[in-house]
Amino acid sequence: MFERGIKVARQFSHHERAVVYPGDCRELLAAIPNGAIQLVVTSPPYNIGKQYESRLQLNEYVRQQREVITECVRTLHAQGSLCWQVGNYVESGAIIPLDSLLYPIFHELDLKLRNRIIWHFEHGLHCSRRLSGRYEVILWFTKSDDYIFDLDPIRVPQKYPGKKYFKGPKAGQYSCNPLGKSPGDVWTVPNVKSNHVEKTDHPCQFPVELIERLVLSLTRVDDWVLDPFLGSGTSIIAAIRQGRRGVGAETVSEYRRVAADRIQAAAEGSLRVRPMQRAVFDPKNAGSNLTTAPWLNRPPEQLRIFEQPSKYRRAHR
Ligand SMILES: C[S@@+](CC[C@H](N)C(=O)[O-])C[C@H]1O[C@@H](n2cnc3c(N)ncnc32)[C@H](O)[C@@H]1O
Repeated sequence: MFERGIKVARQFSHHERAVVYPGDCRELLAAIPNGAIQLVVTSPPYNIGKQYESRLQLNEYVRQQREVITECVRTLHAQGSLCWQVGNYVESGAIIPLDSLLYPIFHELDLKLRNRIIWHFEHGLHCSRRLSGRYEVILWFTKSDDYIFDLDPIRVPQKYPGKKYFKGPKAGQYSCNPLGKSPGDVWTVPNVKSNHVEKTDHPCQFPVELIERLVLSLTRVDDWVLDPFLGSGTSIIAAIRQGRRGVGAETVSEYRRVAADRIQAAAEGSLRVRPMQRAVFDPKNAGSNLTTAPWLNRPPEQLRIFEQPSKYRRAHR
């Protein structure tokens, strides 16, 4: 594929900047030399029967994940990081957190867990027999104790930047880092639902800003970022937007087309993304009457009707 702004290659080579391999990630991985990749970041299939996956026995799922993870670790640079983003496997209403299921694989491969980042979001399915899931997990591992980590590009504003030391030799000076504070290990980032500017036909895209945080803190300019389960191309997009290089594999041709178009648009600067610094939308600040409960100021005898939704619906149709 040759395009206007960037060449999106189909095979890995050090001369490329963006590679979308059309096929199984194990084939792509076999073509990547040892230690070539600075950051592996991915969200693998969760084995929950999404349209792009066939549900496997759990032990077969773990076996396949082990195969891919082992190869990813081989391609990872000694100073590199691996971020595996997962949610829950669900069977008959019971959940199995995939990070705990997969952790032994990373441990056996001698990776060091640096953070278990909670990615919190506010929208999703409403569960009726358990609490609705509103977070997933990013397991961030490094290959060694000597790893690339730069906090400055991902700092966030402090709550009280005007705070000063009130005693000691620095009394009267501002106590905060002017570059901001650490984002910590709980990240609230809107997930890509239908009204998100980045939404494509892919059912479970990463938000670009989520991956940009990892790219900016764990890689340097021109480093390679690898996503073995590329989907709509978000990991490569985050890499390209930040002057890095990106490579991924995707088995579904429709998603590869979406990925290639988005990578092009990102390279040309025309891809619409939700910027990393934007505060999470708070509808209360938007002046909409939808944020005011219609039952406020109603007499208590009318409020009781809310305990019986079907009656309420009939009465207020
Ligand atoms: C959870 S989605 C990843 C979505 C991605 N994070 C994004 O931002 O669009 C997993 C993707 O992996 C693809 N996939 C599944 N098995 C694969 C394999 N063996 N090799 C390459 N891609 C695979 C699926 O088609 C799906 O698009």
